[in-house]
Amino acid sequence: MQKHAGSMVRMKTVRGSKKADGEPVLQVQDIARFFDVSPPWYQRLVNMDWTPRTLHAVDGIDFEVPRGKTVGLVGESGCGKSTLARVVAGLYPPSRGTVRFDGIDLTTDPHVLDSLQVRARIQMVFQDPYASLNPRWRVGSIVAESFVVHQPDMSRAERDTRVIRLLETVGLGPDAAGKYPHQFSGGQRQRISLARALATNPELLICDEPTSALDVSVQAQILNLMRGLQEELGLTYLFISHDLAVIRFVSDFVGVMYLGRLVEWGTADAIFTAPRHPYTCKLLASVHDLEGARDQREAIAGEVASPIDRPGGCHFHPRCPIANTRCKTEMPPLTESGAGVVRCHAYEEGRLDELEIALQVMEQ
Ligand SMILES: Nc1ncnc2c1ncn2[C@@H]1O[C@H](COP(=O)(O)OP(=O)(O)OP(=O)(O)O)[C@@H](O)[C@H]1O
Ligand code: SF4
Ligand SMILES: [Mg+2]
Repeated sequence: MQKHAGSMVRMKTVRGSKKADGEPVLQVQDIARFFDVSPPWYQRLVNMDWTPRTLHAVDGIDFEVPRGKTVGLVGESGCGKSTLARVVAGLYPPSRGTVRFDGIDLTTDPHVLDSLQVRARIQMVFQDPYASLNPRWRVGSIVAESFVVHQPDMSRAERDTRVIRLLETVGLGPDAAGKYPHQFSGGQRQRISLARALATNPELLICDEPTSALDVSVQAQILNLMRGLQEELGLTYLFISHDLAVIRFVSDFVGVMYLGRLVEWGTADAIFTAPRHPYTCKLLASVHDLEGARDQREAIAGEVASPIDRPGGCHFHPRCPIANTRCKTEMPPLTESGAGVVRCHAYEEGRLDELEIALQVMEQ
């Protein structure tokens, strides 16, 4: 079996795409983001024995997103999903690696993202529409802000017409423009966030848990809306969620993250019908459908280790039912699997039957 670095993720992505000739619009290569979590200076003054501490939120992630497709990233709380989203969106500089959008390197030249043309093409939608909409502005002004920034020459009348059209696109009536965010429900506020994001005519939407704060039925409405918008406008999504049912519903490709690394990548079909990594298998054992949503964050036995003090070897080994000595000392490389890549010694050693037995025992 072959071992690969991240480049394999690209090959699998592009080949697995329904539009196989579509070029990737987003290329993430070896992205890492660390945080210095050493004690603050005043504590260092009283404790001379302090040691520097680094939190490895994201460490060596590679993947690509083909134009017009959705890549879903899933993993438990704290595995680095939001940090990765923020690095891709240019909100955090990476500690290592590169992000390319439509061939433009966003990381080596930090000023590229200052360019309004590039900024307009990438938009982010956040989990909490309550926090991300200015409560003192009317919805019309919130949605129109992008026009003011990106197209300052646009007339007031044209702006108003465009705002109404955008609100209609996301299923809101024209009267929404004159109201304030607090006059809307959570689902409607997320529709407003989407209208605001669409105002710049973006190509890539980075969505960080956009439906996690919503009731299950409202969640389904917003996900359907997003799928419709993707078809209509040819949008590409990087979609982050801790919820596998949501990821399954929206994704063409899925990356499974654990403690800052991708442990498995593949087409959504492959991940959901033939998972290879023990962590993915355990996540899937707790999957539900959209109607019966529950929180996957508590679904797996054992605590996720701290990203400040990660277990050696495979980071998942303290929770893995089939870990062996090698797993405790050697980080598994990404290995090509049928429709993706997987980071697991057991897969490479051909002993995944042990996993099946272990999962059956756990289910009893
Ligand atoms: N600005 C920061 N400074 C220090 N540590 C941070 C910072 N931002 C994130 N972290 C840490 O990085 C790790 C990854 O956090 P992140 O928010 O990316 O996880 P997540 O997968 O999005 O989790 P969740 O599902 O809860 O949203 C966590 O341990 C978090 O505490
Ligand atoms: S490398 Fe070892 S510990 Fe890690 S997931 Fe595979 S079998 Fe489990
Ligand atoms: Mg998050």
